[in-house]
Amino acid sequence: MRGTLAGRITLVCLGVAGVAVIVAGLVGARLVRTTADNVLQSSLSAQADVVATQLDETGIGNRLGVGKVADVVRGQGISVVVRRAGGGQALGEAVAVQAAGKLGLAADHSGRVTVGGSQYLVETRVVGARGAAFALVLPARNADATQRALVRNIALALGIGLVVAALAGFVSGRLLGRPLRRAALAAGSLRAGRRDVRVPVQGPREVAEVAGSLNSLADALAVSEARQREFLLSVSHELRTPLTAVTGFAEAIADGVAAGDDAVHAGRTIQREALRLERLVTDLLELARLGADEFRLDPASVDLAALVRDCAEVWQLRCARENVRLSVSAPAAPVVVVADARRLRQVVDGLAENALRVTPAGAPMVFALSVSAAGAALSVRDGGPGLAPEDYPVAFERGVLNKRYRDRRPVGSGIGLALVHGLVTRMGGTLTAGPAPEGGAAFTIVFPLTTAVSSPP
Ligand SMILES: Nc1ncnc2c1ncn2[C@@H]1O[C@H](COP(=O)(O)OP(=O)(O)OP(=O)(O)O)[C@@H](O)[C@H]1O
Ligand SMILES: [Mg+2]
Repeated sequence: MRGTLAGRITLVCLGVAGVAVIVAGLVGARLVRTTADNVLQSSLSAQADVVATQLDETGIGNRLGVGKVADVVRGQGISVVVRRAGGGQALGEAVAVQAAGKLGLAADHSGRVTVGGSQYLVETRVVGARGAAFALVLPARNADATQRALVRNIALALGIGLVVAALAGFVSGRLLGRPLRRAALAAGSLRAGRRDVRVPVQGPREVAEVAGSLNSLADALAVSEARQREFLLSVSHELRTPLTAVTGFAEAIADGVAAGDDAVHAGRTIQREALRLERLVTDLLELARLGADEFRLDPASVDLAALVRDCAEVWQLRCARENVRLSVSAPAAPVVVVADARRLRQVVDGLAENALRVTPAGAPMVFALSVSAAGAALSVRDGGPGLAPEDYPVAFERGVLNKRYRDRRPVGSGIGLALVHGLVTRMGGTLTAGPAPEGGAAFTIVFPLTTAVSSPP
């Protein structure tokens, strides 16, 4: 069974307090007992010295004198044993005589003896030169009383120690446990899908580390989920243009609008666009498999002139349907840059989608490729309403223009320009927006040339 943190800490505190009180008690008891014994012994010894000054050889022989002394000390529980001069029996209470006998009455002694299981403190003194001696005998049971009092005090200390330890353990356990419980709650919210939960980083270092790690985890989760969402948005965005082209050309064939050579041409375009769709789906699979969250770029030499012509072929039909005149200007010679051809198609498609959406019937739309010292510039221009000067600085911020024009013009989901800008930048090019000579907006991609292979038309 798993106890609570407070419970465990309380138990540990109780254990430590118990052991501390018991050890201190045992050491204390020993100390007190020896000290008490020493005090008793030295007081007995002092009494013996006093008695020795009162009882000389004759005194010990005198029953009356000994009786007086015995009366005085009896009040303190002390028995007197005497041996008269010239040898002979030791006289006194039987137990005291035995105790004195154990220590011997031959010299001045001071000691503790055991008789019949009880302990006695004994002081012997020799009086005169003819073997007269006496002993003072005190039962050591006074020390037992001290010991009992001591045990009572230790038990009291143990009780107080345990109560204090239990309180300290409980309080510190609660204090430690609170931030941990908060972290557990936050983790629960994270699991339930909330990403805005953060735990205050406070408390002891280890607990603060837990909170910090949890916060970083929440941040990492939020970032990775946002990137995945972004990626899904971009993929679905890129799927739209080729799909529309496939549908458009297929419809043209089905309706008989494209027949003969045109139908063959339309068929080829459908095939090419279907291939692009397939590759986009492959992208999706790859990204899902590798857990990546961005399109992979395969930079290679790309002929921009051919790319513009390919784009024009696909867009021609859609423009014709909207009655928009699509014109293309590109050098006849190849214009080679290093980029990813598929992503470049996505870029032109994104820009052309925007342009066509706002270009009114009869107005022009232009794909223009030119070469200058700055590099190869590919523009998508239109004769639509264009953008206001304050739009250009924020044109590539996600959703900003979409929100601005939502009530006035047809708009899409608002991620196209940000995506296109990201792709161009990642490929090493630049994308700028400005006014077009046709009256609408012009979006221009510039890539550095790999070699000077083309000349202006
Ligand atoms: N050539 C243009 N002429 C006029 N306005 C444009 C042009 N290109 C973009 N815009 C404006 O900028 C907004 C943002 O374009 P963006 O491509 O980022 O998003 P969207 O086209 O609305 O949606 P999505 O591309 O995701 O389908 C558009 O909604 C449109 O109002
Ligand atoms: Mg768009």
